[in-house]
Amino acid sequence: MPLMPSLDRLRTRTAFVRLTFVALGLLWVIVPSGAMVRLTASGLGCPDWPLCDGNVVPASTGHQLIEFSNRVVSAVVVAVAILSWLVARRIPDGPPALRRWSGAVALTTAAQLPLGGVTVLTGLHPLAVGAHFLLSMVTLALVTLLVLSALDWRAGRRRGWDRRRGPLAGIVALMGGAVLVSGVIVTAAGPHSGDDDVTERFGDFLAAVEVHVRLAIAFTALAVILIAWVMREGGTDRLTSLMAKIAVPLILLQIIIGEYQYRNGLPWGVVLVHVSVAATLWVVILVACLGIIRPRTEGSYGLRDATLWQGTHRTESGSALSRPSGISAPQSTQTP
Ligand code: HEM
Repeated sequence: MPLMPSLDRLRTRTAFVRLTFVALGLLWVIVPSGAMVRLTASGLGCPDWPLCDGNVVPASTGHQLIEFSNRVVSAVVVAVAILSWLVARRIPDGPPALRRWSGAVALTTAAQLPLGGVTVLTGLHPLAVGAHFLLSMVTLALVTLLVLSALDWRAGRRRGWDRRRGPLAGIVALMGGAVLVSGVIVTAAGPHSGDDDVTERFGDFLAAVEVHVRLAIAFTALAVILIAWVMREGGTDRLTSLMAKIAVPLILLQIIIGEYQYRNGLPWGVVLVHVSVAATLWVVILVACLGIIRPRTEGSYGLRDATLWQGTHRTESGSALSRPSGISAPQSTQTP
């Protein structure tokens, strides 16, 4: 089947939203899949790259199979990320946000291939392993922005800025990122940093855990204040409220898992759950915070980017929303 007509079928609003959800799902799956490789010490199951022991398909030993399966999932993720970008480029008069976020997702996903190669070729250096994980968290954030932009485009919705609650929501999202980075440093200093035979770790494990736990507590406190504020005042859309409600129990669950794994010698199955919940929580907190920073406003505006404004608006809660200067009025365009 020729490629271009197939791409054109995915240009409708509903099909494109589905495609972005598939990309989000795959970019989530790759996190536990990659963690599985690290935690079962299968990273050098295929000592070369991109082949596995000189073969396209590996012999069926456990480590080789785990590492090779992760490489296959990675290839599918890269293909879907590039597909989303190609489709977004072919949407006539679609919002620039679709092209921007899908391009960034494709770029950062494709960058994982050489970074994965460097990770293997450096003998699973803890810093390379950590960089690999953090880049996937960046991509997860970008694909979340893509999904939200696609949903707005499908509904023909516009958004403003909440100057009152937005700054705290921004700080909560940044703190979430800081907890992820500190967790990666704990991992680099701990027994699951990369290759099982490596005895020299990166940094001091106990000091890293202390920083990680303090950041997690500060993040939890700020998130609870933000969510209590939003719940009391209302004025957020359904998706944002849902994510805000899910966030608190998920954070508490993550803290319990973190404590349990720390006190029980870091069993790899539990660490795998800690990593998976971290990726889920990252998406949940981003959706909640972005929905608070940029609340929906009444009315629709056709297919233009969500940053277009006609005047200063108020949210349902009465929060004042700013108008970026020099931005023109909304324009209606045609549905592809
Ligand atoms: C909001 C709460 C938390 C989040 C989002 C979070 C997230 C993370 C992340 C992303 C990692 C790195 C995973 C990797 O590199 O593959 C990590 C590692 C770790 N976390 Fe947390 N964490 C949280 C709370 C806690 C708490 C309360 C503890 C208690 C001691 C804890 C203990 C650990 C330990 C020991 C590791 C290293 C695991 C390993 O060796 O692989 N975490 N965390």
